[in-house]
Amino acid sequence: MVRVIELEDLEQDALKRNIPVMQKEGILFLISQLQEIQATSCLEIGSAIGYSAIMMATHVDRLKVETIELDNERYQEAVKHIDDFGLTQQITIHHNDALSFDEHFLHNTPYDCLFIDAAKAQYQKFFEKYVPYVKEKGIIIVDNLDFHGMIFDIDHIKNRNTKQLVKKIKRFKDWIFNHEDYDVNYYPIGDGICVIKRKEKE
Ligand SMILES: C[S@@+](CC[C@H](N)C(=O)[O-])C[C@H]1O[C@@H](n2cnc3c(N)ncnc32)[C@H](O)[C@@H]1O
Repeated sequence: MVRVIELEDLEQDALKRNIPVMQKEGILFLISQLQEIQATSCLEIGSAIGYSAIMMATHVDRLKVETIELDNERYQEAVKHIDDFGLTQQITIHHNDALSFDEHFLHNTPYDCLFIDAAKAQYQKFFEKYVPYVKEKGIIIVDNLDFHGMIFDIDHIKNRNTKQLVKKIKRFKDWIFNHEDYDVNYYPIGDGICVIKRKEKE
């Protein structure tokens, strides 16, 4: 039985402190995708305080989650939460910059799922670095692709930094949607989620 109350507390506490955790419908969608493919391994880029990793590990049978977090305070909190939920056997967390992380330290390769939920401006770099560690029939899930709807109306964004960021997200979206090696399904769930699969070879 999942400790629903505590998980909700974790989510609410993160929201109160402006820690960006995945929206409820987004995380439920992610879980349903993992269940559908009967995933036993998932690599997450961007753990924050461990909320999504704990949600995945407690809702998907036999799933091992490996997750990477850059920020020290969030990493320490995530370690504590993973421990509090008794999930240290199921979740491995690395304190590192996923862009410079030495992949030799990954534990559960190859993965059924790669979930990218870290710095939005770097999506393509995360994708290119970690996709070789995804199984041939595995999936890659990317969150926050609509950026609060701004991606559909870039010309009207006034803040220069926000505009740059949204342009980068759009560039990633255009790149992956037009990539000859991948099929992409977009879902207007939460803040916009893509599920990416390798195209079947003929
Ligand atoms: C949106 S939050 C992750 C939320 C988490 N997946 C959840 O739903 O509970 C993004 C996290 O990615 C981390 N991050 C940003 N750049 C990173 C990098 N290069 N490597 C690892 N983590 C990074 C941030 O510190 C932040 O905590």
